[in-house]
Amino acid sequence: MKILVVGGGGREHAIIKKIKENKTVEKIYALPGNGGIAADAECVDIAAKDIEKITEFAKSHDIDYAIVAPDDPLVLGCVDKLEAAGIPCFGPKANAAIIEGSKVFSKELMKKYNIPTAAYETFDNIDAALDYIETAPVPLVIKADGLALGKGVVIAETKHDAINAITDMMQNKVFGNSGDHVVIEEFLEGPEVSVLSFTDGKTVVPMISSMDHKRAGDGDTGLNTGGMGTIAPNPYYTEDIAKQCMETIFLPTIEAMNKEGRTFKGCLYFGLMLTKNGPKVIEYNCRFGDPETQVVLPLLKSDLLTVMQAVTKERLSETEVEFSDKSACCVIAASEGYPKSYDKGLELTIPAEIADKVYVAGAKITDGKLVTNGGRVLGCTAVADDLKTAVEEAYKLVDKVGFVNKYYRHDIGQRALKALK
Ligand code: AMP
Ligand code: GLY
Repeated sequence: MKILVVGGGGREHAIIKKIKENKTVEKIYALPGNGGIAADAECVDIAAKDIEKITEFAKSHDIDYAIVAPDDPLVLGCVDKLEAAGIPCFGPKANAAIIEGSKVFSKELMKKYNIPTAAYETFDNIDAALDYIETAPVPLVIKADGLALGKGVVIAETKHDAINAITDMMQNKVFGNSGDHVVIEEFLEGPEVSVLSFTDGKTVVPMISSMDHKRAGDGDTGLNTGGMGTIAPNPYYTEDIAKQCMETIFLPTIEAMNKEGRTFKGCLYFGLMLTKNGPKVIEYNCRFGDPETQVVLPLLKSDLLTVMQAVTKERLSETEVEFSDKSACCVIAASEGYPKSYDKGLELTIPAEIADKVYVAGAKITDGKLVTNGGRVLGCTAVADDLKTAVEEAYKLVDKVGFVNKYYRHDIGQRALKALK
């Protein structure tokens, strides 16, 4: 089979490495991929958002199956376009990807179908939003409606911060049109859990749970990032909580999307907070998480391509999806300065003996050499019988990869290890 993967980060590298385990796969193209992914797939310089070119490429290269991984092309209708051209795909159509593409949509969906989430109000008028802040208790969470590279969420500790955030989003347009509508919601507290799931619109199969570490600095300090490391499984996500989530969140969401005529097929990501009043949805993503994928897929025992194709054919209920009972830890090696400014183009070494455990997020090949090309550069993943060992082994991998401005958090997995005690 000839496979096309849209995207070019660590998540896509993890998907590609897993897909390669299937013996029927003869060729994988990554659009655009990156300098590290080039070791596992043929990278083609077509941007993930360039849906026209992606579709042309798929048709002219006899692609048998396409996997669309990032949010932008999904929200823009990449799957609709590929399917219209006769190419089977993994990923939701645009009318379902809106569950991530619009926070106003997802909040209204949850309200309509009684899916537990933070209480909220939506605004498309700055004066009304500012009036609301006058009387609402802080902290408040302010979210730009549309996609904003994971940065459109502000936790305002004071009224002053809330006013600034609203002004930035609605008046100064720091997230462009994404700030035309905002959601202002109640601040929730509790451990966060990421649950990725496979769903074909009929059946939902949660993958092993995970925990992201979103802040840049040790001890959850500093700016929000795309994610500095992950562990799986998440010790806070007990069997009881999983059962409760299935009944109150996962199945109701799939049914709600069906009732709205927006059947979701693909990977639906539930970002959950385990509050003292039960699990609540913080966010939905219409795709695999990054860097959650880098710990979840290494623990998947079943064949990924088979599961994905079962989703496409709406035969997920007949398909085995099995996870290992081991633990995994992924530590992100980033460029010093991320998520603000950082240097690029610095020589990068990944020793061959650990290359199968390293997912490349931001690198390119220049003059035949691998160099850094992004904020998050590598994800180093170790799998072990227990979490403590997985964490130790992941840090050994981080020590072995080399680039001069390497920056990483030192405490990935520590919160989970404490919870296990
Ligand atoms: P999101 O992009 O919606 O995932 O938000 C980014 C991060 O902001 C989440 O991972 C949470 O840590 C935090 N967050 C979002 N919404 C809330 C909320 N209602 N209460 C507390 N924290 C939140
Ligand atoms: N790691 C969070 C996300 O993929 O949005």
